[in-house]
Amino acid sequence: MKKILTGIKPTGNGMHLWNYFGALKSLFDMAKEEWNDVYVFLPDFHSLTSVHNGETLRNNRKRLLKEFFALMPENVEITVFEQSKINNLNNINWIISSVTPYSMMLRAHSFKDSQNKNSEINMATFNYPILMAADIISYDFDIVPVGKDQKQHMEFARDIAGNFNKTYNCEIFKLPEAKIDENLMTIPGTDWRKMSKSYDNFIWIFDSPKQIKKKIMSIVTGSETLEEPKNPDTCNVFALIKLFATPEKQEEIAKKYKAWNYWYGHAKLELLDLVLKYFEKARQKYESFEENFDYIEQKLEEWNAKMNKILDKKYEEILKITGLR
Ligand code: TRP
Repeated sequence: MKKILTGIKPTGNGMHLWNYFGALKSLFDMAKEEWNDVYVFLPDFHSLTSVHNGETLRNNRKRLLKEFFALMPENVEITVFEQSKINNLNNINWIISSVTPYSMMLRAHSFKDSQNKNSEINMATFNYPILMAADIISYDFDIVPVGKDQKQHMEFARDIAGNFNKTYNCEIFKLPEAKIDENLMTIPGTDWRKMSKSYDNFIWIFDSPKQIKKKIMSIVTGSETLEEPKNPDTCNVFALIKLFATPEKQEEIAKKYKAWNYWYGHAKLELLDLVLKYFEKARQKYESFEENFDYIEQKLEEWNAKMNKILDKKYEEILKITGLR
């Protein structure tokens, strides 16, 4: 059994198509395999490095949870928990910080980037990778699927674990492995760039149908006339259609592109239809959580308790090894 952990920071905005197809979908696929044990958590302490408004963070948390629970398939077992509800996690964070070399943390790209961008930078940003290591190694997670930007953080997690083991001449921490999909495809946004929050060219999964339509209709396309044949392989709309349509449907639409009286507007409407159908159930669930958020809170309570129990055991061992008990 492989224990897998993913963290989704409640830092704002909603989930867009790329969040789903670039990350969540493969996580759900992993969870379907019986040899995987998948955990997802909200690193809310981590979001404090950038979110400094209580109301905002509370809203972000709620929105993210509604979205995640709406998208999570019913036939898979995933444990969802919250970092700030794990009582002894920050104690472990402190203990591993005490043996982690300052010189190692100075190498952090994420810290250096923030330093270049901000004149004033908080201590939590500097300590960020150590808490992230604690998230992972406190539970002996085997695999952590992350984006390329988290590669160094994962190396730190391994180094921090190895360093602690060496310092105390023990084997308490397992060295986790990063799972980075180097060939991860990207999907186009509504302009010519890849879909990304920072370009504001994304399609939010839980937006109103009207807004989704507006976004889809605004996708930049070629300028051929109605009569001219069009090339589906170079069209952004078609690239998105491919995510949703069956091979037969793709074939059918591709044929229309190559014929003479098919307009990009037609393709966009097909895409709209496919998107709304694909996420129909998730969108209904999302709505239902507006009224029934208690369902989510109850589940979390159960899972947070489970994760606290596991961590408390590890923490006891750490206390003994370090001489605190
Ligand atoms: N640093 C991760 C990010 O920015 C979030 C994160 C915190 C995380 N702790 C983690 C991810 C542990 C995986 C495992 O996306």
